Amino acid sequence: MKKRVAVIGAGPSGTAVLRAFQSAAAKGAEIPEVVCFEKQEDWGGLWNYTWRTGLDEYGEPVHGSMYRYLWSNGPKECLEFADYTFEEHFGRPIASYPPRAVLWDYIKGRVEKAGVKNWVRFRTPVRHVTYDEKSGKFTVEAHDLVNDKVSREEFDHVIVASGHFSVPNVPEFPGFRTFNGRVLHSHDFRDAVEFKGKDILIIGRSYSAEDVGSQCYKYGAKSITSSYRSKPMGFKWPANWEERPLLQQVENKTAYFKDGSTKEVDAIILCTGYLHHFPFLDDKLRLKTANRMWPTGLYRGVVWEDNPKLHFIGMQDQFYTFNMFDAQAWYARDVVLGRQKLPSRAEMEKHSAAWRAREETLEDAEQMIWFQGDYVKELIELTDYPSFDIETVNKTFMEWEHHKQEDIMGFRNNSYRSIMTGNMSPKHHTPWLQAMDDSLESYLKAK
Ligand SMILES: Cc1cc2nc3c(=O)[nH]c(=O)nc-3n(C[C@H](O)[C@H](O)[C@H](O)COP(=O)(O)OP(=O)(O)OC[C@H]3O[C@@H](n4cnc5c(N)ncnc54)[C@H](O)[C@@H]3O)c2cc1C
Ligand SMILES: NC(=O)c1ccc[n+]([C@@H]2O[C@H](COP(=O)([O-])OP(=O)(O)OC[C@H]3O[C@@H](n4cnc5c(N)ncnc54)[C@H](OP(=O)(O)O)[C@@H]3O)[C@@H](O)[C@H]2O)c1
Repeated sequence: MKKRVAVIGAGPSGTAVLRAFQSAAAKGAEIPEVVCFEKQEDWGGLWNYTWRTGLDEYGEPVHGSMYRYLWSNGPKECLEFADYTFEEHFGRPIASYPPRAVLWDYIKGRVEKAGVKNWVRFRTPVRHVTYDEKSGKFTVEAHDLVNDKVSREEFDHVIVASGHFSVPNVPEFPGFRTFNGRVLHSHDFRDAVEFKGKDILIIGRSYSAEDVGSQCYKYGAKSITSSYRSKPMGFKWPANWEERPLLQQVENKTAYFKDGSTKEVDAIILCTGYLHHFPFLDDKLRLKTANRMWPTGLYRGVVWEDNPKLHFIGMQDQFYTFNMFDAQAWYARDVVLGRQKLPSRAEMEKHSAAWRAREETLEDAEQMIWFQGDYVKELIELTDYPSFDIETVNKTFMEWEHHKQEDIMGFRNNSYRSIMTGNMSPKHHTPWLQAMDDSLESYLKAK
């Protein structure tokens, strides 16, 4: 009987797995039956925008964390698929920081071309996964929401690609219960226009803090105060944005900070990150990690060392995204197909420990980028994923970092050369701060 592989999630990571198997089949390989379970109504993961927050129409927690007007926060040249370029998809080079709808279109384009949509069971969240030592098989319990039917099926391999930027990490600060304004997590942030004319307090110092604050600035917030736990972001902020040490408490609408200063605020947005949350995995199968560059327990960042028939895609903190998920998916596929032989448990642990030891020495974004680049390189050398120039990707990331340091509200006006095609991307027709329409049509229109 044909082997069966369950893929959980059809975001960029899950669709990379589908494309990996389909590309092997297209080259004549015998591939297993692949069943992808996706809880949303369409594929694309976080890029499939929803206006909903809280629970969806079926009572399921809303997966989406993206918001209106979100533009890529890194150059698209760094995430480009090596087997499906932006030029192939759009028919010409396009500018470097596409809004969400443009990237969603690109993600979908590759898998539509591959013809794998019928491998996906939409609106079907996985509820529980167990492994039976005797039979050597997994049982996957999933809920078909449309027909309200729960099914249990056996699989030889399970590949978890359910993402880790969806379940918010929500700390509480003294006074939140009686604060006379709105408190929300960035997971529930949808439209910056809501905060026009308001004094906003942001907690956190990472990408959500930077971008949600920038959105609020762009769409007319009166002031932005961002409050950090470890260190300030340190960009050259506009005049109405200041950084303060950590919030200690709020009273009515007054926020009190660690340095003794205060500020009247209308809303507090917790940009405090996300939890790796896998309630559907049995105890022995559950990855437990913070958001970091090298979670432990995963050989080559993919294979669950406790049970190598279980794989995880995209569980690292991310500079590299789409093409790293591809590198992982191609590797996972080759493990399933028996093209990659796994070493002993002790060897796998030793290999992972060496990566973790290096991860622990990383001091800044630049070092993290080179680290992740080396990791992606290691993976793509193992499979037939089209090779690409990792060093140039890293250097493009460095340019991006410099552009942010120079002008945090203007870095998206820059353009970069495609590593895959060698062609220079055009400049966008409108500077980011003035570009209020984030639709695909507007982004792609000629000057
Ligand atoms: C606000 C925000 C902005 C971002 N912006 C960028 C950016 O500009 N550039 C960039 O490269 N990256 C960005 N990212 C990073 C993002 O993580 C990746 O781009 C990418 O979406 C990760 O893909 P994924 O498939 O691993 O996870 P996701 O995109 O989260 O997809 C996971 C999928 O699994 C499904 N799923 C979850 N649980 C289950 C279940 N139990 N059963 C069935 N299906 C399930 C979900 O419905 C979802 O479709 C951003 C992240 C956030 C939160
Ligand atoms: N396209 C875009 O423009 C865009 C926009 C938003 C997000 N993203 C992506 O989304 C992903 C997640 O980013 P993220 O910023 O949400 O998460 P993150 O990178 O994990 O950062 C979490 C932040 O929360 C802070 N934090 C956590 N607990 C805290 C507490 N109790 N008190 C104070 N601060 C606390 C951390 O502070 P310390 O650093 O001090 O520990 C850190 O700054 C990233 O991949 C990012 O690229 C992209």
